[in-house]
Amino acid sequence: MDLKLQNRVALVTGAGQGIGRAIALALAAEGARIAVNDINAAKAEETVAALRQGGGQAMAAACDITDLAAIRATTAKIEAEYGRIDVLVNNAALLLAHELFVDTKPEECDREIKVVLYGTMNCARAVLPGMIQRNFGKVINIVTDAARVGQERQCNYSAAKGGVISFTKSIAKEVGRNNVNVNAVSPGATNSPMRLEMLRQLTEKIGEQKAAEREEKVKRAYALRRIGEPEDISNAVVFLASEAARHITGQILSVNGGFAMPG
Ligand SMILES: NC(=O)c1ccc[n+]([C@@H]2O[C@H](COP(=O)([O-])OP(=O)(O)OC[C@H]3O[C@@H](n4cnc5c(N)ncnc54)[C@H](O)[C@@H]3O)[C@@H](O)[C@H]2O)c1
Repeated sequence: MDLKLQNRVALVTGAGQGIGRAIALALAAEGARIAVNDINAAKAEETVAALRQGGGQAMAAACDITDLAAIRATTAKIEAEYGRIDVLVNNAALLLAHELFVDTKPEECDREIKVVLYGTMNCARAVLPGMIQRNFGKVINIVTDAARVGQERQCNYSAAKGGVISFTKSIAKEVGRNNVNVNAVSPGATNSPMRLEMLRQLTEKIGEQKAAEREEKVKRAYALRRIGEPEDISNAVVFLASEAARHITGQILSVNGGFAMPG
């Protein structure tokens, strides 16, 4: 199947590691040119180096997506270098509080909502006018099943992601007439640095044996009895970014090994 991604320009946020990096690599493997965003400039450069090593074209586009002026300046730089942005993948996020909501700090809640929800909206604000003008675009927002079915100890994060799900549907209705598709990919637990760090902290707290038992219990909640890998998510993103998905918009696609099956 020709995915028609050759020479497309894709901006992937939070692509310095984990799922974002896997998405950048997967889009590049289909011939897209990649602008690698991350708040961590050194990590963004690492991904750029990996992309170039694989024969891809890539540029660093480091900035904090909560800063609208910075993301506008960054997208202007990408457009000056590559001419346009065809694909926007809103992947950057952070999960600060792994506690009961009543124990979380308001400033952590504020930051999570700023990165997850405002960061996504800032990037859309900067990129969509060009897509509308050119009558072509693909926006893929990375959300989470925690927002679809609820997740204790992740109230702030899942509330912010719930906002992104609503934004995905509403903006899809606005820009569909401009041939811009907007969808979301919703991972279940996925072995990225974010999750592995959570596991490390848990192991430190409860010990290796209990942590391993807990991990087995987590796997049993997944119909396919495995935890996802970043490539499971990037495959879905590549499909949604491609012309094979041209008639799909406003949808939330769970890639979760059957953890939850929302109607
Ligand atoms: N790993 C999982 O189990 C899981 C599950 C469900 C959803 N997700 C979602 O998948 C996406 C990727 O997660 P991951 O697990 O790879 O996370 P990760 O923490 O490994 O990577 C996130 C990247 O985003 C960057 N980032 C954070 N704040 C930023 C900002 N303000 N501006 C620019 N970049 C910023 C970080 O520096 C980091 O490189 C996120 O949207 C996350 O919510 C992950």
